[in-house]
Amino acid sequence: MSEKEVASGAALWHGRFEASPAEELMAYTESLSFDKRLWADDIVGSKAHVSMLVSVGIMNESDGKTVLAALDEVGTEFASGAFVYEATDEDIHTAIERRVTQIAGEPGARIHTGRSRNDQVATAVRLWCKREVAVLASFVLNLVNTLEDRALEADSCTPPTRLPGYTHVQHAQPVLLSHHLRAHSWALLRDVDRLADTLQRLDVSPLGAGALAGSSLPLDPSHSAASMGFGGTFANSLDAVSDRDFIAEILFDIALLGVHLSRIGEEWVLWTSAEFGFAVLDDAYATGSSMLPQKKNADIAELARGKSGRLIGNLTGLLVMLKGLPLAYNRDLQEDKEPLFDSVDQVRRALIALTGMIKTARFETENMIAGADAEALVATDLAEWLVERGMPFREAHGVVGKIVRDSIATNTPMATLVLSHPLLGGDAVSLFDAGVAVGRRQTPGGAGPVASPEQRARLVEAIRQAKARFE
Ligand code: ARG
Repeated sequence: MSEKEVASGAALWHGRFEASPAEELMAYTESLSFDKRLWADDIVGSKAHVSMLVSVGIMNESDGKTVLAALDEVGTEFASGAFVYEATDEDIHTAIERRVTQIAGEPGARIHTGRSRNDQVATAVRLWCKREVAVLASFVLNLVNTLEDRALEADSCTPPTRLPGYTHVQHAQPVLLSHHLRAHSWALLRDVDRLADTLQRLDVSPLGAGALAGSSLPLDPSHSAASMGFGGTFANSLDAVSDRDFIAEILFDIALLGVHLSRIGEEWVLWTSAEFGFAVLDDAYATGSSMLPQKKNADIAELARGKSGRLIGNLTGLLVMLKGLPLAYNRDLQEDKEPLFDSVDQVRRALIALTGMIKTARFETENMIAGADAEALVATDLAEWLVERGMPFREAHGVVGKIVRDSIATNTPMATLVLSHPLLGGDAVSLFDAGVAVGRRQTPGGAGPVASPEQRARLVEAIRQAKARFE
């Protein structure tokens, strides 16, 4: 196909066809509507390819210069919004090649030498992922930093803010608010670590694999890999064009991150309810009701919970799409991009919104403390007090269980029953004093104020290390 035909708007692969593509075919098979956003990455990949062609003498210097200048011009058109698509542009890759050829003429028609869209698209997507995964990690770290700011603030109250810790959503033992918030930070830091692992594995250039088998021309894939800043070059051309493991990994990382955000979201829905009353959202981060004038809803938290479903769906959809594919490229693989873009977009928005919500919310510390100081949360401390005096734990558990039962049955405060209990008495009653129970949790990694500084130090170091993995 001549550059004239390209300029006249026929499909790039039209040479062996007599008829033009049906409108329905184009409508069904196009990917331009969603892969447009790869334009900058396609141009980076195309420039690396052209430079490589010049370096091995397949393209002469003058043609190389002309094509590189045309690619820059196309980049400027995209950046300014001036780029005009044509009906025959199937995807961003054909659109750019078509436009480069219109601008550069005959040298432009040499750009696809030794290249297929199969290695071209894999290259552009990997470049996109390298950038976006790093951006995502920075937003996770912003959230972690916000949680840690709030944790530090909670610890600097006198006394440090405590709240009930739960198991089965039932009052269990008191914990510091800082400890609770940091539990989420540790999970999020593992998410960052996973993104860094994924980034390391995806940092391999597939350019030079061609359609599936490399080339009869003397290409130098390591040249283009180095000029794009990839850490490595493919070893097997079939694998290079058909591997989408890196997308599956990103989608898993995001699905799990999304599940962590969903769990945070669910907690904030509870905490901001009248029943819990542990937090009040800033007006700017809450929504109202169209009918109920009194409502102040935690919609960010709810959507963080709700959207986790589609993040899991995107991963599942990709894996199912991949599972039956023989080597090498199959058009099915085009289905990798929408879930990828959707998951990255959605989780980025969730991170930003949740960070703002948590940064600006007010903690209702009096309600938290009242909950933390409820008598039932002292039960384990009473049992452990008996253990410290030599009683086997199972027996102590029974003694305190009986006190709880009697307290409920006779509507008598536990403290009254403890005071008159032959094995407990006045010393044990002091366990009910405000803040005593949480203060007794002194074990490493435990929920009390003694362990808190050590945990903070570890967390600050973990944040530093996580950040460093992306520098
Ligand atoms: N739009 C396609 C994709 O995203 C580009 C590759 C098409 N390759 C081909 N041989 N038809 O996968």
